[in-house]
Amino acid sequence: KRSKDQMIIDAGQKHFGAVVCKSCGMIYTAASPEDEAQHIQHHERFLEGLRYVGWKKERVVAQFWDGKIVLILPDDPKYAVKKADDVREIVDNELGFKQVTLNCPAKTKMYLFVSNEKMIVGCLVAESIKQAFRVLSEPGAAQSPGQDALQHQRAWRCSATPEPAICGVSRVWVFSLMRRKGIARRMVDVVRNTFMYGCYLSTDEIAFSDPTPDGKLFATKYCQT
Ligand code: ACO
Ligand code: ZN
Repeated sequence: KRSKDQMIIDAGQKHFGAVVCKSCGMIYTAASPEDEAQHIQHHERFLEGLRYVGWKKERVVAQFWDGKIVLILPDDPKYAVKKADDVREIVDNELGFKQVTLNCPAKTKMYLFVSNEKMIVGCLVAESIKQAFRVLSEPGAAQSPGQDALQHQRAWRCSATPEPAICGVSRVWVFSLMRRKGIARRMVDVVRNTFMYGCYLSTDEIAFSDPTPDGKLFATKYCQT
């Protein structure tokens, strides 16, 4: 666990001998046997967990030139829900969420972005909510790098007054080697369109919960445009 956290924090810095695996995206030191062993372990779990075999009655909610978005609902067949849970576990692990249970599994919608290569490269967990607390911007906070930047940046200030909202995005994640291709943007677009039948949600009706620095940069940009 610890070394995994370390990996995420170190990811932005230059390390002598550090390599990025082109398949699983892990950054590790090739010269270190311990690192290499850890990579092999991560590599297999990760690629197996994100492999998408698909099923007959899959719910494709959007199709693109580079992939499709599949929606999984709580009452779907066991194998679909199991896949959603497995992916969520991998994502939680990467986000540093430990043993977080969903607020209400019965109200959770899981969106998966599946690449043409049949790999799950994006995941978004959306839940029904009634209200949200707006994150207040703190000038300078997002720019402070450093060892425990992640911890500091997680502590956003929130407004004390709740505002009405409909859809809470509790997790949004895109595979590290596929970022900045509009995958997260397209997933949120699709959520707005499909979360509530017959409605197109405004950005005010969507709330991103407990955003990471990446999540905040994305959400800020998304909600402005
Ligand atoms: N830095 C600056 N701007 C960003 C970043 C970033 N890291 N990521 C997205 N943006 C902005 C950009 O303006 C971008 O448009 P551009 O590429 O044309 O400039 C716009 O948002 C749209 O970005 P997408 O390409 O749609 O975002 P992407 O598919 O890369 O996914 C995400 C963004 C999900 C945050 C990804 O970086 C990720 O998975 N990070 C690690 C996991 C994580 O921290 N997730 C958020 C957790 S918070 C939560 O779940 C509520
Ligand atoms: Zn790998």
